[in-house]
Amino acid sequence: MEKPDMELIKDGKRLDGRRPDELREIKIEVGVLKRATGSAYVEWGKNKVLAAVYGPRELHPKFLRNPTKAVLRCIYNLAPFSVEDRKRPGPDRRSVEISKVSAEALSSVVMLERYPNAGIDVYIEILQADAGTRCVGLTAASVALADAGIPMKDIVAACAAGKISGEIVLDLMKEEDNYGESDLPIAVMSRKKDVVLLQMDGKLTREEFKKAYELAVNGATQVYEIQKAALLKSVNDVKIEG
Ligand code: CDP
Repeated sequence: MEKPDMELIKDGKRLDGRRPDELREIKIEVGVLKRATGSAYVEWGKNKVLAAVYGPRELHPKFLRNPTKAVLRCIYNLAPFSVEDRKRPGPDRRSVEISKVSAEALSSVVMLERYPNAGIDVYIEILQADAGTRCVGLTAASVALADAGIPMKDIVAACAAGKISGEIVLDLMKEEDNYGESDLPIAVMSRKKDVVLLQMDGKLTREEFKKAYELAVNGATQVYEIQKAALLKSVNDVKIEG
């Protein structure tokens, strides 16, 4: 489908006033759900996302068990009321894909071999969506895993970059995602910078890809600092409560 021509960036400013290399505002709250082993709530621009972790616990059905390591499962769910046109409840192709790539990304940092035969379930609930929800979901899930006290090699931080009106920019919002030329969501291990997720919508030249990739890694580094601050705050709050 042809996209209508829309000027998404003018005099170096985007529709919401951001510079090309600027993230939307991000707020992270840790430990928001009493019955989950770990949880996090993230507001990222107009996105609102809840992540909950259960486990490690006995894995059912039994045939899924792995005697050498835990199995991490992920369910990404876009709530019917989270988008402009009501979304039909339940899984669809898109949510199955995002669940799969998210589980793979998180499995590369969680020390699954510590929990043979067990299951770790990660739920990502998108309450309000405004583009970039897979990045927000992974960022929230990673914090929720840390909140659950599950050992990890590193924390996963995610961010997208893309191309709008011919320019490479960081962290596309809905209008930019809809009318832009390309979107490149990535997730990295925060300290090692190993890539654990990389997807691309639309087209980029080799040069543009390099620029967008570097911008997205830089964005993920900023996201990591916010994750770290939220986790430190939650640990300190517990200490104060005694
Ligand atoms: O959210 P993310 O950018 O990771 O995934 P996407 O498939 O590129 O979707 C971009 C955006 O389109 C979402 O964040 C939603 O705001 C919107 N969307 C929608 O309105 N209805 C859907 N059924 C799916 C996505």
